[in-house]
Amino acid sequence: MEESMTAKTEISVIFAADDVYGIGKDNALPWPVNAEDMAWFKKHTRGHCVIMGRKTWESLGRKPLPNRENVVLTSKPREIDGYPNFNEPEKYPDYAANMPLHQIINQVSPYFDKVFIIGGKSLIEKSYDLVDKMYITRMKGNFDCDVKVSPPTLVGFKSEHWETSQDGKATFNIWARQK
Ligand SMILES: NC(=O)c1ccc[n+]([C@@H]2O[C@H](COP(=O)([O-])OP(=O)(O)OC[C@H]3O[C@@H](n4cnc5c(N)ncnc54)[C@H](OP(=O)(O)O)[C@@H]3O)[C@@H](O)[C@H]2O)c1
Repeated sequence: MEESMTAKTEISVIFAADDVYGIGKDNALPWPVNAEDMAWFKKHTRGHCVIMGRKTWESLGRKPLPNRENVVLTSKPREIDGYPNFNEPEKYPDYAANMPLHQIINQVSPYFDKVFIIGGKSLIEKSYDLVDKMYITRMKGNFDCDVKVSPPTLVGFKSEHWETSQDGKATFNIWARQK
């Protein structure tokens, strides 16, 4: 983890992947809406900061996730309609600049107890070396995704939580970096 990162802020990545680490298709989630996974995501991210790429923002209908601080990364910030912090450049002056993810995390960390990287591929893969925790849902099956992530090695991480969904279609895992 970067030494300059704020120690008290917990940085996590949260995503769902199928059997072959597919995460998206046609800029949407590839599996039928899974209420339990939605509830898992909401339970853990609610009240915190979520950082996402511009395509994920579009996949959410260009609407911020409620009850969370939404930070959207793009190299073209003025093309993001309705971005909630667009008129607050004094708060995150460089949030949308093409800076490395760890610098963006450093910039928002002082304002939050928890920061979640929520996708897509471009952020998830870069987050593996930066995060304290990984919240990984594994959806059973191969959904013929057009976006896949490389699996995290999980070296240096320990399983903190594991459960199977009631419908048996998913497992929910939390991996914590060992200090
Ligand atoms: N299963 C899951 O848990 C999950 C979660 C989220 C998303 N998804 C899926 O993932 C897919 C989208 O992933 P993706 O990797 O193609 O796109 P993405 O990561 O959502 O967005 C990529 C865009 O983010 C911007 N960006 C990324 N890093 C940046 C940085 N450091 N500075 C400035 N801008 C930056 C760039 O936008 P500009 O081109 O505007 O510069 C880049 O083109 C969709 O299919 C979505 O449904 C799945």
